[in-house]
Amino acid sequence: MKVLLIYYTGTYNTRFLTDRLAERFENMNYSVDKAEINSEAPTVQTDGYDYIGFGYPIYGFNTPHPFMEYFKKLRFARGQKYFIYKNSGETFAMNNASSRKILRKMDRAGARFCGEYHFVMPYNIHFEFDENFIKQIMCEDKKLLDIMFYNLSGKIAPEIKSKLIYNVGAFFVGIQSIGGNVNSFFYRVDKDKCNRCGLCAKNCPRKNVSLKDGKVRFGHSCDMCMRCSFYCPQKAIKIGFLQGWQVNKYYDLEKLWNSAAPAEPYITENSSGFYKCFIKTFNDIDMRYSQISAETK
Ligand SMILES: Cc1cc2nc3c(=O)[nH]c(=O)nc-3n(C[C@H](O)[C@H](O)[C@H](O)COP(=O)(O)O)c2cc1C
Ligand code: SF4
Ligand code: SF4
Repeated sequence: MKVLLIYYTGTYNTRFLTDRLAERFENMNYSVDKAEINSEAPTVQTDGYDYIGFGYPIYGFNTPHPFMEYFKKLRFARGQKYFIYKNSGETFAMNNASSRKILRKMDRAGARFCGEYHFVMPYNIHFEFDENFIKQIMCEDKKLLDIMFYNLSGKIAPEIKSKLIYNVGAFFVGIQSIGGNVNSFFYRVDKDKCNRCGLCAKNCPRKNVSLKDGKVRFGHSCDMCMRCSFYCPQKAIKIGFLQGWQVNKYYDLEKLWNSAAPAEPYITENSSGFYKCFIKTFNDIDMRYSQISAETK
């Protein structure tokens, strides 16, 4: 049995999730191939796989532009089984629209849909998450993984339903495809903070950053993935019009994943404002998880 996981990642949250999925498949004796999308990634052959999984972080309620560019080049056999595992920093209903282009193309190719799953991961822009919140997120993600594998083996294919209004909204917010290129004209490096370690240049998935004559330079082919500024050890990179939303933070995801749930849940029935959207998301996961736990006893 073979599975292919095709994914795009900016700050490695999606790579982390992909590795968790791969472990689960390997425990079930699947052979797993992973294809991480970047500007140098060769187009993978998709034939001969029992399942193909598509993983991506939601960008502006859409799939990331480099993911779609890569995806458009792929060809699929009729009846190819596939599933989607996406992730993002919040669960506002507009995020439900993000997979619509993948679903449309796979439907046209006559592929067989095997479910879509929305994992929550720490925001890589906007603001930092509290560690206790991340611990709760990780507990819910682990349950969602159990649900996903239960569904795959039981041939249950849950859909994440979108509405026309979300699709239209997401279409208009799909700024990232040109937003990164425009924004990169405004990237700046604080030369007093920068230690010229070269990490930003080495890690950029678009080879859009270089270190020349001791100076960091940006080109204008940017995915807006935030990897350069997120991991800059000196917090030296200013990210143009997203500066107010910059997050420069290393989360030890491996450690947080293996931690116990926080003593007091971070999200409760009384959570409000930004955090309100998680009440329903976590309740839905908990309910489904209890059902499958009862069924597998
Ligand atoms: C340009 C950009 C746009 C984003 N838009 C959204 C969004 O619309 N909704 C959301 O919940 N998270 C959004 N995020 C947050 C990411 O989806 C989230 O942090 C994800 O886990 C990042 O995954 P990665 O580390 O694999 O890149 C955005 C992040 C970036 C960089
Ligand atoms: S990662 Fe930060 S400190 Fe290192 S070269 Fe780039 S800007 Fe300078
Ligand atoms: S320049 Fe920075 S934000 Fe743009 S693609 Fe490269 S690493 Fe990502």
